[in-house]
Amino acid sequence: MLENRRILLIVSGGIAAVKVPDLIRRLRERGASVRCILTKGGAQFVTPLTLAALSGDKVYQDLFSLTEEAEMGHIRLSREADIVLVAPATADIMAKMVAGQADDLATTALLATDKPVMIAPSMNVMMWTHPATQANLQTLKTREVKVVGPSAGDLACGEVGNGRMAEVPDIIAALSRFFQKSDGQGPLTGFRALVTSGPTHEPIDPVRYIANRSSGKQGHAVAAALAELGASVTLISGPTHEPDPGGVKVTHVETARQMMKACAEALPAEIVVCAAAVADWSVNAKEQKLKKGVKTPALNLTESPDILATLSQPGPSRPGLVVGFAAETENLIENAQLKRAKKNCDWVVANDVSPGSDTFGGDSNTVHLVTAESVESWPRLRKRAVAERLAERIAAYAERHF
Ligand code: CTP
Repeated sequence: MLENRRILLIVSGGIAAVKVPDLIRRLRERGASVRCILTKGGAQFVTPLTLAALSGDKVYQDLFSLTEEAEMGHIRLSREADIVLVAPATADIMAKMVAGQADDLATTALLATDKPVMIAPSMNVMMWTHPATQANLQTLKTREVKVVGPSAGDLACGEVGNGRMAEVPDIIAALSRFFQKSDGQGPLTGFRALVTSGPTHEPIDPVRYIANRSSGKQGHAVAAALAELGASVTLISGPTHEPDPGGVKVTHVETARQMMKACAEALPAEIVVCAAAVADWSVNAKEQKLKKGVKTPALNLTESPDILATLSQPGPSRPGLVVGFAAETENLIENAQLKRAKKNCDWVVANDVSPGSDTFGGDSNTVHLVTAESVESWPRLRKRAVAERLAERIAAYAERHF
């Protein structure tokens, strides 16, 4: 997807600039050409010589350089690219982009370009969460600027939180997705995917139900990420506050049984991802509201159908790749491996849902991808980034096996 793509890479002044040499190397390995603009701040972290050596091109730094202007005017520089990537994008350069400032070569090129722009923000967590930066981010998004990352984790400043520049593979994946989309297709074009998401509600009587803490954020993000890669996605969603992802067919259900039925109706599909936190038991629900009385009512529970296990059953219509999630509070990987074998699914995304893990309802997730061959531990990532990585892995699998 990156073959022959021309990337104008603007490196602004953040510690994550040290990841840029690796980014350039990986982009060029994939056949892209990279031309760099290095800001004064960026040059504090990475040298022009390194960037020039790795990109195989001159590095542009100075707006008022006669030689640079004579060789390549800054307007031409900003136009002779298929995309402008700002990595790392500091709070300062984001603010300047919003304000339309043009006081150096980088900001001038950004103002003068008629090409799509992608930013990979990188900064301290307080700077990232500051209302000014968040407002700037929203403005940039409304101007169609693509955003990759940041992720959560240890920051170079010693603090912990959101603000780490997206990892190199994630930036590459975002660029690939962008070009695929602009070509009107993706690696999963032509494939059908079925995704379950959210909790289920099991009624006790007309006003009460049993629920769980699932927010649906992860499952919805998986559906969106698969659609972004071109799959035709059906999302079967339990009750959540998440908006329906764009470009995805959504069926809303309430109970485990309804989810099972909707999944059966949505088949056939080549790819299934069961991210829903399906209630393990349903209640023999009363038709009338239970009234307080002398005797406290006992709940008569019946086991729900196991959707993942049902969809994984061997047979001619079994989807080619079935992925489950494992929500565990102890022995995470061991339990996930057991679950994979027991339910006969191909992969399990294991996540820790212990109190304090902030998995249920939170925006980030630390997961392990458990397959028959290996266990891959991913760093703590935004749920959207987890979904994008998973979709990438699914696309790679589909390319090899389907
Ligand atoms: N799952 C399902 N149908 C169910 C229960 C679970 O499809 N009735 C799926 C979930 O969507 C998830 C996987 O099975 O992909 C594992 O769910 P999890 O809640 O971790 O495990 P359980 O099977 O419920 O087992 P336990 O609660 O004993 O850990």
